[in-house]
Amino acid sequence: MLLPNYAEARKRTKNNATKEFYNRNSEFCNLGLGKKYFVKTYGCQMNEHDTENIKAILDDLGFTETDNYTNADLVLLNTCSIRENAHNKAFGMLGRLKHIKQLNHNLIVGLCGCMAQEEVVIDEILKKYKWVDFIFGTHNIHRLPYILNDFLSVGKQRIEVYSREGNIVEGIPVKRENKFKAYVNIMYGCDKFCTYCIVPYTRGKQRSRIKDDIINEINDLIKNGYQEVTLLGQNVNAYGKDFSYDYNLENLLEDVAKTGIPRIRFMTSHPWDFTDGMLNVIKKYKNIMPSIHLPVQSGSSKILKLMGRRYTKEEYIKLFDKIKKIPNVSVSTDIIVGFPNETEDDFNETIDLVNYCKFDNAFTFIFSPRIGTPASKLEDLTTLEEKEKRLYTLNEIVNKYFLENNQKMIGKIVKVLVDGISDKKGMLCGYTETNKLINFIGDEALIGKIVEVQVTDAKTWSLDGKLI
Ligand code: 5AD
Ligand code: SF4
Repeated sequence: MLLPNYAEARKRTKNNATKEFYNRNSEFCNLGLGKKYFVKTYGCQMNEHDTENIKAILDDLGFTETDNYTNADLVLLNTCSIRENAHNKAFGMLGRLKHIKQLNHNLIVGLCGCMAQEEVVIDEILKKYKWVDFIFGTHNIHRLPYILNDFLSVGKQRIEVYSREGNIVEGIPVKRENKFKAYVNIMYGCDKFCTYCIVPYTRGKQRSRIKDDIINEINDLIKNGYQEVTLLGQNVNAYGKDFSYDYNLENLLEDVAKTGIPRIRFMTSHPWDFTDGMLNVIKKYKNIMPSIHLPVQSGSSKILKLMGRRYTKEEYIKLFDKIKKIPNVSVSTDIIVGFPNETEDDFNETIDLVNYCKFDNAFTFIFSPRIGTPASKLEDLTTLEEKEKRLYTLNEIVNKYFLENNQKMIGKIVKVLVDGISDKKGMLCGYTETNKLINFIGDEALIGKIVEVQVTDAKTWSLDGKLI
């Protein structure tokens, strides 16, 4: 049993990340023969992409996928720690699985992802969820075949979680959910240690993938007809800072643009590491989408300082203004309300900032104390009721701007990568270059293609259009 250890997870040394290769062991290729698996994913795109690796490994072990967990032989929860409700959802699902396991003793239940990296979660599982069969963390997805094999041969709960800075494992197989849009990791972990955030503990030290591995992956995607890549990292703007040589996101974006893939997105950006050079590259290449996700978290410099964000409200606005010079750019953000010590005045500063920036999209959250983070130890006198009120007020305002921004697009002709069939009957849907969802009538044969659509109507969260 290898349990998570927060003291170890927090450590950062100057050592560079080592690169390993996925070691496929053909001995295990029949491990899952005749068995069905179901993976439930919580949280961010990084987790979604990890699930794509996990599914490919399970397929390689002989399992087959099912989309119904009630008839699966193996259920794996790929969990998220970012806020308490993600925790609660995963524990709720474990509760449901307990009942199923009581009826079907052969059901294998596993847990992985960020929650597996948390000491408190594993303590609780050891006490109250002894029937969970195996657990692995974010650093050892590549060990899944060994962990499963050990569990299946010994039949005892198997926990293997590394709490270390982490390395980079290349060559893990991937079963992509989408046939024309792909996630490509460019880095792992985060060294920013914003005081509210659990990610630096659950995902380890920042480690950038080398250019050649990224470009080779993208070239393969192009060969297979992919139209869009999203370059993923917790803080992509810090890409390359861990290299001993000079190569950063500006350089990488340019090299990825030169591959000729039609659409490039990247997320998430931290304002601290955003350079003018990056902005110039985004302006220069038509295939880098003019859509920037730039979490602000708060509009109060006092709260930003307590959050350890390393910028003031004024600095954020200065960067925002520069970004807005990119033609037709859209900017989205993340905002936390109810951070400890946030007064009504601080909150009003957030509202002022929102009124200035008029974001195209915003993900808004109530602060959720995460055990082990500095912010969880701060005294917090604001009631939940007050925090909910602030969230409601904020949402009303951000929604108003989503609609206003969308209305400004009526009549414009936009390029859309057609995603699939819309929830709206008889329509297709897709995303504009600025990442806005648009519905329109068209032939299913257009799915996966980039088409031109004229915007005819605007809603808060989507546009309507007609094919040109
Ligand atoms: N409480 C609330 N929101 C959080 N986020 C990260 N940690 C917390 C927390 N403890 C939000 C931030 C981040 C987004 C991914 O999740 O806004 O940008
Ligand atoms: Fe968390 Fe993002 Fe801050 Fe890193 S930069 S600590 S992932 S909020």
